[in-house]
Amino acid sequence: MKPLSRRSALALGITGTAAVGAGAAGLRWSRAAGLSAGGGAALKEPATLASQQGRLAVRLEAGPARTGIGGRTASVAAFNGSLPGPTLRLDPGDRLNITLVNALEEPTNLHVHGLHVSPAGNGDNPFTSVAPGQSYEYEFALPPDHPPGTFWYHPHHHGMAAEQVAAGLYGAIIVQDPSPVPVSRERMLIVSDISLDSAGQIEPVSLPERMMGREGRTVLVNGQVRPALHAAPGERERWRLINACPARYLNLRLEGPRYQLLALDGRLLASARDTDNLLLAPGNRADFLVTPGEGRSALRTDTYDRGTMAGMMMGGRASADTPADLLTLDARGEPAPEPRPVPPLPALRDLREEPVTGRRRLDFSMGPGHGMGPAAMRFTINGKEFDAGRVDETVSVGSVEEWTLSNSSPMDHPVHLHVWPMQVILDGARGPARPRWQDVVNVPANSEVKVLVAFDNFPGRTVFHCHILDHEDLGMMSVIEAR
Ligand code: C2O
Ligand code: CU
Ligand code: CU
Repeated sequence: MKPLSRRSALALGITGTAAVGAGAAGLRWSRAAGLSAGGGAALKEPATLASQQGRLAVRLEAGPARTGIGGRTASVAAFNGSLPGPTLRLDPGDRLNITLVNALEEPTNLHVHGLHVSPAGNGDNPFTSVAPGQSYEYEFALPPDHPPGTFWYHPHHHGMAAEQVAAGLYGAIIVQDPSPVPVSRERMLIVSDISLDSAGQIEPVSLPERMMGREGRTVLVNGQVRPALHAAPGERERWRLINACPARYLNLRLEGPRYQLLALDGRLLASARDTDNLLLAPGNRADFLVTPGEGRSALRTDTYDRGTMAGMMMGGRASADTPADLLTLDARGEPAPEPRPVPPLPALRDLREEPVTGRRRLDFSMGPGHGMGPAAMRFTINGKEFDAGRVDETVSVGSVEEWTLSNSSPMDHPVHLHVWPMQVILDGARGPARPRWQDVVNVPANSEVKVLVAFDNFPGRTVFHCHILDHEDLGMMSVIEAR
């Protein structure tokens, strides 16, 4: 992997989605139709490793890998040589042991995004650093009442998270539902993006791209360009979709089949509801029930304006300004019988009915710094850049707090808190009628969002941060300690 500090020749202000020629043999997104090279191959899914008798022990080696992308060989980084890494399937109450082997040339670590597990010791501890050539034994104990859903794992080493995830280090975690919705099949769909040069190497990223959040030109699903899915008309499928892009928002246009949103960020909704559009910020997951009629359709991500750095030191929009087809779905053949009704989903906890024991305000902001290069712009929370040696917020285990997430910058920031999910209670002018739980909450430019958090179960030190991973690496992360 190329060092982070290497500057490309891109002019200031050019975003990752700008049309940069990649050579005659290179991959090219066109505005109209997506990618010219590749596309249309049958969807492949990562291998699944499932727990047995309450235990799963896996070895994950993070290292350089070569893989076919869009008909060419690309040099990426991957877990166990596969892009994405293996899917880990668990039950509530399970113990997960991961031996992380670092075959990269720089330090790394591992985070289990969205799992409600201890952040202490060799658990989901973002302060762990595993040196090149070393390995580390992680252990995660899921509580017996852990919510079933879709989660994921990725490296979380401060300063390197964006680069390592962008290079291909990510994989899915499924916590199985004891009474799942009946479906014909489940699909795991991990969306990422990448920019490759004509030799199949990942392109270096400029400082302005990092400040805006890098967006790869080529959007991938399970490491494939626009894969094809096949089903019979009328079959109900469950799609588990993960936005593993370091910075790209997925503005999903859900047309053609019937799309029902079943879960968000690994939490079932109160009921499955019909949806035709959904915005997934980096880190977000959505579980859909998808029932196609006869015919062919595409799952498309539209443009989304996530703001600008204009008025700051340099211009340029940080938008996902290239629509892209993520995949195609072809439904033909004998129509399937009517699927069984969706059983009633369990009632959701509503923290609005519980006493709030504390309130705090967290301001996500960007401003000019006092230096050159990365120091030219500061990415802060309450005026401070990340410092692993400082505790920024102290909370009591068992308390319920109301947090106002405010964004005083001209770009959106998707705010993510480890260990404890957030219930969104005010987003724009109104609050959601039914409880809405997320672990990544987008806070649009120059606005605020209110959430409630129950700091249950686990004392320890962990972090919250912007899930535009470049912003996290540039300092938009705070340390929280639960006591
Ligand atoms: Cu998905 Cu702190 O990360
Ligand atoms: Cu996380
Ligand atoms: Cu941000």
